[in-house]
Amino acid sequence: MCGIFGCISSINEASSEVLEGLRKLEYRGYDSAGLAAIFPGQDGPIETERTTGYVSDLVSKANGRFRGARISIGHTRWATHGGVTDSNAHPHSSNDGSITIVHNGIIENTSDLKERVEKLGYSVNSETDSELIVHLLHHEINSQAASRTVLDAFESTVSLLSGSWAIAAIIADMDEILVARRGAPLIVGRGHKRICVSSDVQPFYGVCSEVAYLNDGDIFSISEAGISSLNQGDEPPFETLEGTWEEEDKGNFQHLMLKEIHDQPISVSNVLGGRISSDGKRAGLQGFELTPEEMRGLKRINLVACGTAFFAAQIGETYIRELTNVDVHSFRASEFPADYVCGPNTLTIGITQSGETKDTLDALQQAKFTGGNISSICNVIGSTIARLTGNGAYLHAGPEYAVASTKAFTNMVASLLLLALTISDATSVRKARIVQELRELPNKISAQLLDMDDSLRSSVEILEASKSAVFIGRGISAPLVKEGALKMMEIAYLPCLAYPGGELKHGPIALIEDGTPVIAVAPKDETIGLMESSIRECRTRGAKIILITDQEGPIADIADEVIITQSSGRECSPMINVVPLQFLAYHLAAEKGLNVDRPRNLAKSVTVV
Ligand code: F6R
Repeated sequence: MCGIFGCISSINEASSEVLEGLRKLEYRGYDSAGLAAIFPGQDGPIETERTTGYVSDLVSKANGRFRGARISIGHTRWATHGGVTDSNAHPHSSNDGSITIVHNGIIENTSDLKERVEKLGYSVNSETDSELIVHLLHHEINSQAASRTVLDAFESTVSLLSGSWAIAAIIADMDEILVARRGAPLIVGRGHKRICVSSDVQPFYGVCSEVAYLNDGDIFSISEAGISSLNQGDEPPFETLEGTWEEEDKGNFQHLMLKEIHDQPISVSNVLGGRISSDGKRAGLQGFELTPEEMRGLKRINLVACGTAFFAAQIGETYIRELTNVDVHSFRASEFPADYVCGPNTLTIGITQSGETKDTLDALQQAKFTGGNISSICNVIGSTIARLTGNGAYLHAGPEYAVASTKAFTNMVASLLLLALTISDATSVRKARIVQELRELPNKISAQLLDMDDSLRSSVEILEASKSAVFIGRGISAPLVKEGALKMMEIAYLPCLAYPGGELKHGPIALIEDGTPVIAVAPKDETIGLMESSIRECRTRGAKIILITDQEGPIADIADEVIITQSSGRECSPMINVVPLQFLAYHLAAEKGLNVDRPRNLAKSVTVV
């Protein structure tokens, strides 16, 4: 979603830094981009440029005009208030061009603010909530007592807003960037001859040696000297930044998503690395504030997450329920009833790839507010959720750039299985069996990746000929088929329904008619007999069955296409069976010529509610 990058450069390279920063924020998803700059000795309005489309379009439109800038701010916009147009793109400038701002988040009291701004005589030139901020700031600066500073004016402006924001503002004739955050992330980075501000830490790798994370409610001025506030001492400390920027690279693959699907054997090895004992008998997930003993004594564990991460959480819920005696529930973060399910003696764990998802962040904050413990299982190191919780585990999936989550899902499931084993009361024999299967998992995923054959191609043809599809699974595969359907909808735009097999007959079976594709995931576990019945019920009504199973024999005989998977114990099967589901969605989208890595309307990092 929206991204902010700003820079003060003592060698006057601020705009190139900003354009590079914006490029590194592209993975978040956006529909327009813009930048503003102040040049040394400049007189007159702040120079700005903005455009719908990509950062590369902005670079072409800017046409070298921004070289030599001392201060610059830039923005990638994911439209909320107002359509995707040049005039709604950021930055937004005051009517006289002396102040320019970029904003992430959503301002909720826009009607009141718009009325106020118009009464003050400003003309509003966009449909955005963000533009109002710049006029309010202009008014504050120009109407306040001479003894007050621009930071005072900025603070008064911010106090008029309700909603969420990360704001960066520059003022002609000033050597500063004003920044404020509430509910949307903003980080300051310091490096050789530059101080920068960014929506996330990724663009700082290799560019800044130290970072300071702003907290909710912070309002600061950033200058070459560092961070200053109205109340000295409030400034966040700089900490050393370690890590490297990994360029978005699809290698020899046609798309990033396909590469990330193929990354899974390695990314799963990485999540397991160091978490399985050398004798291969025990596994554990460290990093939690609570000891395994304390977790066993909890009244309840809540898993909160969104989208793909939620389906991983649902699978994790099964692991924890079956392997421990702790009461466990997974929740969609946007529907989290914190007041009823949190409190002392509970632990709420946020499961998230980006660590920035606003719904998950809000759920964790609510849980914390009730006095409950919070933790996270997250991919992006130093992300807002990782810092909020301050404890938990990283997924070590490596950067995931394609919007559709693949390897992060698999690592979430693996991490949750490790967590369940960590606090498990199961017999050592049972635990050792699962650990052994986890050890074999990377190789099995590799084999599964190689096994994609004619049946996959024919299955894609069935889907291509259809206007919708139904996914069914039971037990541990019930949440997995929801993930398969989500993948299919988000990148191949095929309307899908996903149901536990047993629920079909209670309603959705009415949708099955001649030729309806039904994708059934039926590994050999305790549900296979019941899955056979569900499949037969669909087939009798004309469905075309695409079966994903590790079983030849009777169940395979009733399918139109059978995608054979690697056999494993029940616990590991979702991490293998997800591969053909990812492939079905990927190949259908690629066949349709769709933008697989950047599907319409979606963003990688969902920082609004
Ligand atoms: C689907 C997808 C989304 C995310 C969801 C949560 O492929 O990527 O459904 O899983 O937006 O994102 P994170 O995991 O970053 O919290």
